[in-house]
Amino acid sequence: MEQKLKGLVEELEAKLSQVKNANDLNLLKAEYLGKKSVFNDLMKQLKDIPNEEKPLMGKLINEAKQQIAAKLDDAKMEMDRKLVEEKLKSEAIDVTLPGKSSNVGSKHLLSQVIEEVEDIFVGLGYTVKEGPEVESDKYNFEMLNLPKDHPARDMQDSLYISEETLLRTHTSPVQVRSLLENTNQEPMKIICPGKVYRKDDDDQTHSHQFTQVEGLVVDANATLADLKGTLLFVAQKLFGEERKIRLRPSYFPFTEPSVEVDVSCYKCGGSGCSMCGYTGWIEILGAGMVNNNVLRDAGYDPDKFQGFALGMGIERIAILKYGVDDIRAFYTNDLRFNKQFRGK
Ligand code: DAH
Repeated sequence: MEQKLKGLVEELEAKLSQVKNANDLNLLKAEYLGKKSVFNDLMKQLKDIPNEEKPLMGKLINEAKQQIAAKLDDAKMEMDRKLVEEKLKSEAIDVTLPGKSSNVGSKHLLSQVIEEVEDIFVGLGYTVKEGPEVESDKYNFEMLNLPKDHPARDMQDSLYISEETLLRTHTSPVQVRSLLENTNQEPMKIICPGKVYRKDDDDQTHSHQFTQVEGLVVDANATLADLKGTLLFVAQKLFGEERKIRLRPSYFPFTEPSVEVDVSCYKCGGSGCSMCGYTGWIEILGAGMVNNNVLRDAGYDPDKFQGFALGMGIERIAILKYGVDDIRAFYTNDLRFNKQFRGK
């Protein structure tokens, strides 16, 4: 009997070495420990052996059974351990592998400069407005003191859609729209950024589409001094606190007097360099006191209201601030260009 039991354990060990998966192992377990196992037969045979040998035999059978159970348990544990190990291996992450980089978008330089200008004016209490890019001749020209035969219309080569409709040549029509909308004739301070269009051939310094920001202040006593103070503040915010400005007389039909505004050169500080054409000054925008005809046409009494307006080119500001040497770079979406101004 003892021999037989030993044989059983050895036989199991041999079979265990052949086991390939959990199913094989379960079959083995049923074979050796299940209801129909050899051990049950052995127990049955116990009744045929002499009484005095029974306890020893019973003990030996139980010991063999326990050994087998332990070996099966060990095999199961080993199998589980191997499974986990394989899983870990197959799911292993090599933290030293270079990461996959994805393209992250960012704001276009023009949007950044528009927002910069908006922030400056909003800080001064201005409201940001919008107007349509397809505009009527009436708002784009006529109500800005530019009647049909006015020679100054030639200053802006226009793209007409029909006789009365065109792509706006400047953001100034928003002045008219804002004046008309303000039916209670409350004091107002607005700016309007937006796209404008001219019949121009595109080259390094010209584009048939570009961006302007219009500004308009109307109240009982806005003066040229207020305009000058505003312009100085804006120029210093954009180009540095040490900047000075200078106003030169100019002509725009919708303002009287009209001025062209220069900022002292931020490169040489005003002493003269190639940036400012050795003049110490750089032109940045046009402005003036709102022409009485514009106020009158929009229903405002020029004896009770006055105001100032300004218009600046966003591309020009961006070109000056960031050293862009070709206006077309703003529109061609070359990522090498755009990426340079990430997070500015
Ligand atoms: N609309 C003018 C242009 O496109 C710019 C301008 C000049 C706007 C003077 C103004 C202004 O409001 O007062 O050339």
